Amino acid sequence: MVLMRGISVLTKIRSRLANQATAAASVGSVRSLQILSSSETDLYSEIKELIPEQQERLKKLKSEHGKVQLGNITVDMVLGGMRGMTGLLWETSLLDPDEGIRFRGLSIPECQKVLPGAHPEGEPLPEGLLWLLLTGKVPSKNQVEALSKELRSRAALPDHVYRTIDALPLTAHPMTQFTTGVMALQVQSKFQKAYEKGISKAKFWEPTFEDSLDLIAALPILASYVYRRIYKDGSTISANKSLDYGANFSHMLGFDDPKMLELMRLYITIHTDHEGGNVSAHTAHLVSSALSDPYLSFASALNGLAGPLHGLANQEVLLWIKSVVEDCGENVSTEQLREYIWKTLNSGKVVPGFGHGVLRKTDPRYSCQREFALKHLPDDPLFQIVSKLYDVVPDVLTELGKVKNPWPNVDAHSGVLLNHFGLSEARYYTVLFGVSRCIGICSQLIWDRALGLPLERPKSVTMEWIENHCKKVAS
Ligand SMILES: CC(C)(COP(=O)(O)OP(=O)(O)OC[C@H]1O[C@@H](n2cnc3c(N)ncnc32)[C@H](O)[C@@H]1OP(=O)(O)O)[C@@H](O)C(=O)NCCC(=O)NCCS
Repeated sequence: MVLMRGISVLTKIRSRLANQATAAASVGSVRSLQILSSSETDLYSEIKELIPEQQERLKKLKSEHGKVQLGNITVDMVLGGMRGMTGLLWETSLLDPDEGIRFRGLSIPECQKVLPGAHPEGEPLPEGLLWLLLTGKVPSKNQVEALSKELRSRAALPDHVYRTIDALPLTAHPMTQFTTGVMALQVQSKFQKAYEKGISKAKFWEPTFEDSLDLIAALPILASYVYRRIYKDGSTISANKSLDYGANFSHMLGFDDPKMLELMRLYITIHTDHEGGNVSAHTAHLVSSALSDPYLSFASALNGLAGPLHGLANQEVLLWIKSVVEDCGENVSTEQLREYIWKTLNSGKVVPGFGHGVLRKTDPRYSCQREFALKHLPDDPLFQIVSKLYDVVPDVLTELGKVKNPWPNVDAHSGVLLNHFGLSEARYYTVLFGVSRCIGICSQLIWDRALGLPLERPKSVTMEWIENHCKKVAS
């Protein structure tokens, strides 16, 4: 049923894209927009089959177009956090400033239509997105079920990981506990062991694939342990082997409302990947370019995700909205909101959940969460405030005069949805983001090794160097 729905949507998408010189091809997707007719459900074999042609494609790019310029580097770019500087190869997704993210050529609404869900009209299963990111192909229901099963069979957390986390005080930030757990898991890295034994470069991707699936599979146990340790007196909940990845994670956290299971599937799906330049993805890619294994690479990504300008913003948003309610009450007026926003800005803080390094319009990840809220919790008082903020914040940020994108990002919405279903501990939210981000990051790391991408080593310069260079250019 889902597959049939997927095929008809894909037919429409295919013909539209064919007319537009295929957006999918323009993002370099791997055989994207194909539904498989075969009964093949082995992800490893699927990737293995794709590797030679993708290696060939990269080789051709280098030999035929290696000297083609991709843009100019300006002083502003170097001083401005490399904004707009094209400098990374990232196959799994591409971000358009106006349109938002596309996963292997598919927008979020398209993914919601074509990726299998737990129910016919339900949200996509994150396992389906993992398949899509890794292969560029929309998986069948059977393939997604097989991957779900595979992840369940790999889901395990050695005892020493619990003991390592238990050595931290309960007051340690959930992200600190989570990342410490990932580092403790690293002792089981198959890549590291294979490298020590002298594995050939051509096979690097295989233990990277193994580590990635092991890590993705273990994260819900690890993340739910951190949650239950901090907020539920350490009483853990066993996995439910009949549930898919997202639903089981929600179950292990302690939330079994079917709507919350749907929210978790959606949440994990949309937070997976946001092309390669964001702090967490770029960090993992950089660290992994030194041939650090997926555990080391992902742990470093989590440390970036834990920053308030990146993944911590979802925590900040809910806390900020709750501070609005404390100050102005739930029925806050537009005028009161405007004043509160100015108060935040005048105290030297940012308005969390608004603005973006690349996006210049409302984040489609925000929009799909808003649709979820309209469908499942239209009367939630905090959702009402999120809606009012949409009407007020962009005007205020525009008035401020320096903000390049006054529109809401993904974090403006996620907190109130989670809060509605009882997951109200905002400090924990970035851990959920981390569980999801692992899927995107590891998908790319596997391709980094399959394509044999080199050590990342950009050139840096001093202010003096730039000053002298500018003098030379001017003379
Ligand atoms: C996401 C973010 C870090 C992007 O930063 P950026 O690429 O430097 O954004 P801009 O180029 O628009 O920044 C220009 C100026 O506007 C400010 N600005 C941007 N977004 C702002 C916001 N939401 N509230 C207040 N000021 C903001 C910046 O701090 C910067 O000020 P400065 O010149 O005094 O340093 C920024 O928009 C932000 O801090 N947002 C709030 C935190 C957040 O939601 N993060 C999650 C991102 S998914």
